[in-house]
Amino acid sequence: MDKHLLQKLPKIELHRHIEGAFHPETLFHIAMKNQLDFPSNFHEFKNTLQFPKDSKPDFALFLSKFYNKWYNSLDDVYTVVYNSFVHLDNNENLFYSEIRFNPFHFAIHQGFDPVETLKVFLMAARSAIRATKQNTKLLMTINRGFYPEDKYIEVFQQFMKHVDLLDVVGIDLAGDEVNFPPEHFTKFFNLIQSYGYPCTIHAGEVTSAGQIWTAIDQLHAKRIGHGVKVIEDSQLLHYVKEKGIAFEMCPISNYQTGAYIDTKTHPIKSLLEQGVKVTLNSDDPTVQNTTLVDDYIACVDQMGMNLENLHTLNTNAINASFLTNKEKTQLYNQFNMQWNKTIY
Ligand code: HPA
Ligand code: ZN
Repeated sequence: MDKHLLQKLPKIELHRHIEGAFHPETLFHIAMKNQLDFPSNFHEFKNTLQFPKDSKPDFALFLSKFYNKWYNSLDDVYTVVYNSFVHLDNNENLFYSEIRFNPFHFAIHQGFDPVETLKVFLMAARSAIRATKQNTKLLMTINRGFYPEDKYIEVFQQFMKHVDLLDVVGIDLAGDEVNFPPEHFTKFFNLIQSYGYPCTIHAGEVTSAGQIWTAIDQLHAKRIGHGVKVIEDSQLLHYVKEKGIAFEMCPISNYQTGAYIDTKTHPIKSLLEQGVKVTLNSDDPTVQNTTLVDDYIACVDQMGMNLENLHTLNTNAINASFLTNKEKTQLYNQFNMQWNKTIY
């Protein structure tokens, strides 16, 4: 299949971290302004941001790329967030996306007030989304390694009281699943459920299928981030099909983190054929030095997917999105019109 066609296809993406999708030129500007210890040559600077090309797959090294000491002021937060949302679509044709952000990433180093930081984040993201007319909603990420559960409960209650979260359509759990298993966050996700937010949980990425069971049964996950290990547990496969749990899969990220040995044998195609609701996503394009189009190319060139497979991945994403049913129907109709215009 022609790369140009893959690039032009409209795409629905449910799993991309803004902290892994920052605009490199803006980070460079901030690093130089704040005299941070980074190369003063842009090309070398960009290399330090990214997972090294010659590295073996390595989850800890991958996560270490989420550097959070850029910000000397909330103006710096605004600049990085605004420019990264303006440049979100890197010739990928995002038709609808749910972009996740971790408010604590922006606040933790300088000890900014989380409520004020969140307000600045949302102002920047919303202005950029409006300016570029993107169809984008937000997911809030809680990072497993940053704070214990009680602190997240306390701060989330403050967010609910003081911040307008209208376009935040769900909550995510990310970070180091090796050292911080999902059962550490049961109380937090019970609270999230009581507020009526759906959630998506990173699980079964580099650990076993057991974390996927816990994410569904104890954390009320409607979607699983990655979850490649589902392929190893036939009982779980049956269970996720029955419950309609969706999987946000990211083949290139999964190769770099070591979640899967290569993109050729990645389970996304087999799961799709078995009727599991899988979706295709980029995860962290700046860190990975990729775009979402590269994940489409991997599915076609290495796994042998056809256009019908790609269409199903996208309609699965519409169904699994955290939009209302009415919004989903409207999105589905608009998406199909655009898809048909592109392929015929
Ligand atoms: N796993 C866990 N946390 C993350 C990832 C990931 O692949 N990317 C960004 N945060
Ligand atoms: Zn992720």
